[in-house]
Amino acid sequence: MSATARKTALNAEDIRAMKGQRPIVSLTAYTTPMARLMDQHCDFVLVGDSVGMVLHGLSSTLGVTMEMMVMHGAAVARGLSRAMMVIDMPFGSYEEGPAQAFRNAARLMSESGAAAVKLEGGVEMAETIRFLVKRGIPVMAHIGLTPQSINTLGGYKVQGRDAAAQPLIADARAVAGAGAFAVVLEKVPASLADHVTEIIDIPTIGIGASAGCDGQVLVVDDMLGFFTAFKPKFVKRYADLGPTAEAAIAEYAAEVRARSFPAPEHTFADTVPAKTKT
Ligand code: KIV
Repeated sequence: MSATARKTALNAEDIRAMKGQRPIVSLTAYTTPMARLMDQHCDFVLVGDSVGMVLHGLSSTLGVTMEMMVMHGAAVARGLSRAMMVIDMPFGSYEEGPAQAFRNAARLMSESGAAAVKLEGGVEMAETIRFLVKRGIPVMAHIGLTPQSINTLGGYKVQGRDAAAQPLIADARAVAGAGAFAVVLEKVPASLADHVTEIIDIPTIGIGASAGCDGQVLVVDDMLGFFTAFKPKFVKRYADLGPTAEAAIAEYAAEVRARSFPAPEHTFADTVPAKTKT
């Protein structure tokens, strides 16, 4: 059953058409209230598998399941009316081949209400991307640092330096040629990101890449300062809400222990108070 029939104003073709027109703005979201806050400011909202680390305390994205993505995706969809929603395919849900990818992408879209899926990989995923796109599923690709592959990449390192530049360029050409409507470039040298942006005809969405990319995405909990376990160099903290939230929690705890909360204005009388005339 579809979690939402709500269509947002922007779709994959709109995002693709923004290349060369104006920078594309994106953040991740995992909940309805956060999606509502960003709906009018972002062009697309990504329900990233970063949800596993940011909200579920996992040490990587590898443990994220289809069920987690469907649940958070459906929540985000309820908060969007303008921004397009893209949802990550979790590790293990698409790598076996096009048929497995189609089955899980169709489920993610129909049960969450997402308008497109994102999957990690370049040349090796081109066949799968082509298969999905030909069958009605808009795909955003993700190359460079692909966090689902940390065990083969040897950690969260910069990708595409020196001899690794040509394979990254080949990845970008492959996903664009396969029909992806946009591609995330994560943690690659700025000059390489600029070059890729110039040579492919779909938007590049940078994260740890370059201001010259066609758009940018950040993990919302990173940029708001809620996720404090570590801070990648490419994250700019636009607010420091983690410490602010903790201070509020500490104040609440102190007031409960001092019996100063709840105060009279937070409690109820035995009888309905008479209305004061204005
Ligand atoms: O899962 C995620 O949040 C992502 C972004 C970092 C692009 O894939």
